[in-house]
Amino acid sequence: MSSAFLRACRREATPFTPVWLMRQAGRYLPEYRAVRERFSFLELCKNSEAAAEVTVQPIDRLGVDAAILFADILLPLEPLQLGLSFAAGDGPTLERPIRAPEQVAELPKVDVADALSYVFETVKRVRAALDGRVPLIGFAGAPFTLASYAIEGGGSRSYLGTKRFLLEHPDAWDDLMEKLVDVTADYLRGQAEAGAQALQIFDSWVGHLAPDDYRSAVLPHMRTLFSRLPTGVPVIHFGTGTSGLLESMADAGGDVIGLDWRISLDEGWRRIGFDRGVQGNLDPAILFAPFPVIREKVRALLASAKRRPGHVANLGHGILPGTPVDGVRCLVDAVHELSTSGST
Ligand code: CP3
Repeated sequence: MSSAFLRACRREATPFTPVWLMRQAGRYLPEYRAVRERFSFLELCKNSEAAAEVTVQPIDRLGVDAAILFADILLPLEPLQLGLSFAAGDGPTLERPIRAPEQVAELPKVDVADALSYVFETVKRVRAALDGRVPLIGFAGAPFTLASYAIEGGGSRSYLGTKRFLLEHPDAWDDLMEKLVDVTADYLRGQAEAGAQALQIFDSWVGHLAPDDYRSAVLPHMRTLFSRLPTGVPVIHFGTGTSGLLESMADAGGDVIGLDWRISLDEGWRRIGFDRGVQGNLDPAILFAPFPVIREKVRALLASAKRRPGHVANLGHGILPGTPVDGVRCLVDAVHELSTSGST
């Protein structure tokens, strides 16, 4: 029988609700920090041996049902010559952001097999190290979220630069999205060919858009992206703050749609449609709470999902730095115990 995680992605029955956590490899884990001391973040992403090591670290420590490749959604922006760097404590920066429509036409064509070969090498190493214990999820940023970094030059509160660009220069925006779709499709296909058994597309910041702007400026490009992905590999379509976009995101594509905690799982799933799976949706902040509170939140989540096939338990966004490891372990154990015993 294939893994509970892959079965849930296909909406097949599972003996328990599978769970993994976004950012399960990261700074809250002492063994990650120990490896990270020897490399800058970009060096770590590019060193396939070390990246494979930190991918596997949380599997035994937490008992999760899937591994997620250690990499970053912004890596494909580096061969686009935007000057990617990760400054300590500041998050990512692009030295040469896209501010004028002419810059889109000048973007270089990327040979993904060459420029991102180190990621494919990591995928192969992780598969060998996991030896079938749990499946490996590959991932990429969605074109909107990538474009937001490319235009803002980093993170943003308002996404005003990105919104102005798509409203003022709709043709250059479409051109930029098409280029990002090309790179992302090749990148995700390459990961699947190297051995990734599921794929997640992170549209982390798309919830900042009004629903009609999503439909006109993003949805057609997402449809193209989904149409270029390999068949037979489940795809998770993730965003945050997407309560106004769920129907459109489901329309764009994905076997499983990610939900954050700003909507109840039950309501989100109803709006997406029960012909899709859902992933989520606990608030990462609950991991700081006492264990009985964490267990109660898990119980309520499972009750909301009603053990319908197609629920992948997760947070609604990534584990925060400083999260107690024991709280994370408590969450994973609670999902397994409470979904097996039928006590919900
Ligand atoms: O465990 C995993 O989830 C796999 C690895 C992973 C990382 N980034 C490692 C990382 C994944 C899946 C990502 C995706 C990613 N990266 C997203 C989408 C998910 C989300 O959070 O919405 C985004 C928006 C990025 C961009 C990014 N990378 C930011 C904004 C930051 C800085 C903020 C922060 O948390 O520090 C990063 C750096 C980053 N990516 C770290 C890790 C473990 C921390 C870097 C460090 O070790 O110093």
